[in-house]
Amino acid sequence: MKKETQISYEYFKNSCELNDIENALFERAKQARENAYAPYSNFLVGCAVLLENGEIYSGNNQENAAFPSGLCAERTTLFWVSANFPNVKVKKIFVVGGPKEFNEKNPPIPPCGACRQSLIEYETKQNENIDLYFSSMNEEVVKVHAIKDLLPFYFDSTFL
Ligand code: THU
Repeated sequence: MKKETQISYEYFKNSCELNDIENALFERAKQARENAYAPYSNFLVGCAVLLENGEIYSGNNQENAAFPSGLCAERTTLFWVSANFPNVKVKKIFVVGGPKEFNEKNPPIPPCGACRQSLIEYETKQNENIDLYFSSMNEEVVKVHAIKDLLPFYFDSTFL
């Protein structure tokens, strides 16, 4: 029996198509990207998170001379948010990434597989979808309406 799955997403050619709160998140993610500690890859990623109370928190990727000990921007940010506000729901996450010396051709940077798995944990826990936006510095933006949309057949606590 053949089955299919499909996702819907939004594509914004330019950030001027975003609304005010989306633009605020984009700006915070870009600012956070500037502080990324990525001396080994020179690939800078910033992440901004909007909570249900309207507050925005941000983070970035943190690398390490022992390469696997570093962490992506998404997990750095979400782990901090969850550590400090464990019972406040996350509404939106905005990720901006690209090489230090970016050019207009750099495409939107989606979260890596490990980050998708980590983000789904919080989406499942709060029982409410999280809007995820990802972009490059060239202002093209992709929006998905749930983290789950990026990881079909995800593993979660229901299997344990
Ligand atoms: N990186 C992120 O921060 N987020 C992702 O989803 C993709 C990759 C970081 C990890 C590493 O510091 C650098 O980008 C190059 O892989």
